[in-house]
Amino acid sequence: MRKLIAGNWKMNGSLAANQALVQALRADVGSPGCDVVVCPPAAYLAQVQQLLAGCPSIALGAQDVSEQAGGAYTGNVSAAMLADFGVRFAIVGHSERRQYQGESDLLVARKAQQALASGITPIVCVGETLAEREQGLTDFIVQRQLSAVLAVNGTHVAEMVVAYEPVWAIGTGQTATPEQAQQVHALLRGQLRAVNATAASQVRILYGGSMNAANAQALLAQPDIDGGLIGGAALKAPDFLTIVGAAA
Ligand code: 13P
Repeated sequence: MRKLIAGNWKMNGSLAANQALVQALRADVGSPGCDVVVCPPAAYLAQVQQLLAGCPSIALGAQDVSEQAGGAYTGNVSAAMLADFGVRFAIVGHSERRQYQGESDLLVARKAQQALASGITPIVCVGETLAEREQGLTDFIVQRQLSAVLAVNGTHVAEMVVAYEPVWAIGTGQTATPEQAQQVHALLRGQLRAVNATAASQVRILYGGSMNAANAQALLAQPDIDGGLIGGAALKAPDFLTIVGAAA
């Protein structure tokens, strides 16, 4: 299957920095052998949409989406608004939002539902903390997180992307080994298969957590690792493009 490399810029960037980054990506991305998406902060979606005009190799993504369709929800951005700006993917349930914004499994499921209703592919993030891993709870946690999304959106399995992001690997430089990641990816694939066997083999399951130019190839070689969700390394064009090359 065609792999997907997504850059999550998190709360980084500026008009000037975004312009430099997108220009550098455009200059060297060519015709990549995988799908590529960049997810800038919401405030910069319009800017990055314009910077990407005429560049079909790089799609636009959002880092979050409202669970509401519209109305009196101060500060929220709806899926329809994202679609207005050409957004094709939306990250939902990132561990930083689960941790700092208190997002529940059900809220994440409703966010995915809104994205799907506007034709936006949700990138559904799951992952365990270090404490949970040490207690042997990894499988339980990731399956609970994914099952909440599937319970609400089970008929749309084929239109989703899943991202396994072990919390202990995010921004720490401590990557999961390819074998550790593959084990969880295979578990998630099995869970998808139980809902829709045909669709499950086409759902891309991304790995995220300190993936970088040096370790991407080994991770992406695993049978159930279908791409990457990249944080820090997505802010450096050469590093991000090296990862894109490794996914080709
Ligand atoms: P890092 O690549 O910086 O560890 O971040 C991973 C991540 O959280 C992507 O969503």
